[in-house]
Amino acid sequence: MALDNFPYQINTNGHLEIGGIDTIELATKYGTPLYVYDVSIIRQRCRAFVDTFGKLGVKAQVAYASKAFSSIAVLQVIKQEGLSVDVVSEGELYTALQAGIDPKRIHMHGNNKSQRELEMAITHKIGCIVVDNFNEITLLTDLLKKHQYKMDVIIRVTPGIKSDTHHYIMTGNEDSKFGFDLHNGQAEEAFAQLMNNEWIRFKGFHCHIGSQIFDTDRFVLATNILFEKISDWKTTYNYIPEVLNLGGGFGIRYTDSDRPIPLQDYVVRLVETVSEHCRNLQIPIPEIWIEPGRSIVGDAGITLYSVGSTKHIPGIRDYVSVDGGMSDNIRPALYQAKYHGVLANKADQPVETTVSIAGKCCESGDMLIWDLPLPNVSSGDVLAVFSTGAYGYSMASNYNRIQKAAVVFVENGIDKLVIRRETPEDIVSHDLSYE
Ligand code: LLP
Repeated sequence: MALDNFPYQINTNGHLEIGGIDTIELATKYGTPLYVYDVSIIRQRCRAFVDTFGKLGVKAQVAYASKAFSSIAVLQVIKQEGLSVDVVSEGELYTALQAGIDPKRIHMHGNNKSQRELEMAITHKIGCIVVDNFNEITLLTDLLKKHQYKMDVIIRVTPGIKSDTHHYIMTGNEDSKFGFDLHNGQAEEAFAQLMNNEWIRFKGFHCHIGSQIFDTDRFVLATNILFEKISDWKTTYNYIPEVLNLGGGFGIRYTDSDRPIPLQDYVVRLVETVSEHCRNLQIPIPEIWIEPGRSIVGDAGITLYSVGSTKHIPGIRDYVSVDGGMSDNIRPALYQAKYHGVLANKADQPVETTVSIAGKCCESGDMLIWDLPLPNVSSGDVLAVFSTGAYGYSMASNYNRIQKAAVVFVENGIDKLVIRRETPEDIVSHDLSYE
């Protein structure tokens, strides 16, 4: 039986199933908390983007924003599906290289790239650096000169629009730490510095307006603003961009109240908008790049927890504590993010109660879900929280010295451990003695 609106199933035992496997079997085999990804969903999401660009016949790169979830296994899937990869740190770049991603298909972001990170990008000859600020232009130029290497670069610009999302994950507005402002002359200045830079091939522009955005209008608005400048720069400098990177941020379903639109729709609308501008300006359509993260892995992943203690406060609420929490999913505490969950071992049973799901960290704010309707809950039940595939593992911490959970991939009824659970020995492995 399919679950309304979510890509998971209920099997004949009444258990939640993902990728053809009973989640209770997975919890027993690998322990909890456990992140489980259905790889076929990751592939479907990749193909939705790649195939739509293909059908529309435009040159494109779909770069997976690996900050959403970076590991060797997931990047191997991304490679198999023909995507590029966006990285923002030495660690993400190293992981991508270890996964065998062609360096030419790696793009590096970051508002404060270190010398070491830039040198790593240069020595591995990655495909593109997304330059974010003036310090970086100077540092990168010096390093390119030192290495006698000429690099493809695009610049990140901020179009000055607000997106309808949590302000911590809003990035395209004027008051942002990212990018060159399009309205106050910074972008022009960066443009001039890069145009005359013998170590840089200045390929075009990047703009990312934010995350978890459900409508296409803001992407269109950002593109329109970008094209006002492209038009100016064509007139003034006869400059025609070869690449236009319109970022990521496509929204997914966390709860029933989220209304995601088909991923194809974003691509169609972006391509239409860019094509129309290019027709008007009589310039060729640049290569269009996008950078989805959440929409590739978000709803492909769930987290399984074991229920432990419960606390009934008469007339107030019932707390149900699980064996993970903000250490494996910081999003509810950080952004007040909402999630949906079910009891995986009672997935076919009717709702009988409403409880609030608490994590095990020493922190009152460590709550995963407030007021979740569930069947009656007992210690030992397995709670599955949906759509935890993006920014879950990647933002996990060892707060309270809790070990990071394991990650399992399932596909076509086969399960495979792809990140092993941390051990207490791992936790102290970087500690040095002071005795
Ligand atoms: N490109 C750039 C330049 C970005 O900054 C981001 C996300 C993406 C692409 C991918 O966005 P996505 O498609 O995943 O929405 N930790 C937050 C999200 C932070 C997003 C940061 N940048 C969260 O858990 O909601």
